[in-house]
Amino acid sequence: MDAVKHGALAISSAAVSFSALAIVGALSALAANERVAFPQDYAAGVHYTTVNRGSVREEIFTSREAIEAARNGMPLPDGTVIAMEDYRGGKLYRYVVMEKRAGWGEAYPANVRAGDWEFREFRPDRTPNRDEDGSRCMSCHRPQASKDFVFTYDRMQAAR
Ligand code: HEC
Repeated sequence: MDAVKHGALAISSAAVSFSALAIVGALSALAANERVAFPQDYAAGVHYTTVNRGSVREEIFTSREAIEAARNGMPLPDGTVIAMEDYRGGKLYRYVVMEKRAGWGEAYPANVRAGDWEFREFRPDRTPNRDEDGSRCMSCHRPQASKDFVFTYDRMQAAR
């Protein structure tokens, strides 16, 4: 039994280092935000706020674990995904997604990174918008560092 377990562990750690290498290789050719996949099950999380601004309506979702961390005034946990539906004139215009993974920020210089967050925009059909590499997103979210780079952190704290 032990041998089988160890064997399985060896295989999975080899797979992890292989994919880490593949990512490092890919970063030279692709934007680092390619690492963010569309979170297909985002709506099963907590819909913690709606933001209305003129004809723009934003519906924002994250995990129960992230809400709990914010309530305790803590940084959001590793693996947190925040997904926003962005409606213009009542019609779904795009999705914007933030995802936090330990080490992701290392792809960026210190004066550019937003902690370990990566940012990506998706079209209404949930395919990535590759014209947007996430750098504008990151620079606008950086001043929110004291709230783990999240503008609606206070709304997470107030969520049920
Ligand atoms: C000009 C500043 C600015 C830019 C650029 C920007 N954001 Fe934001 N973002 C905000 C603000 C402000 C909010 C809070 C909601 C609101 O007021 O619309 C927000 C909210 C969010 C949220 C919900 C979590 C939070 O921080 O409140 C996500 C997810 C998000 N943005 C992702 C992105 C992505 C991905 C991009 C790039 C495609 C992006 N943002 C570009 C300012 C910006």
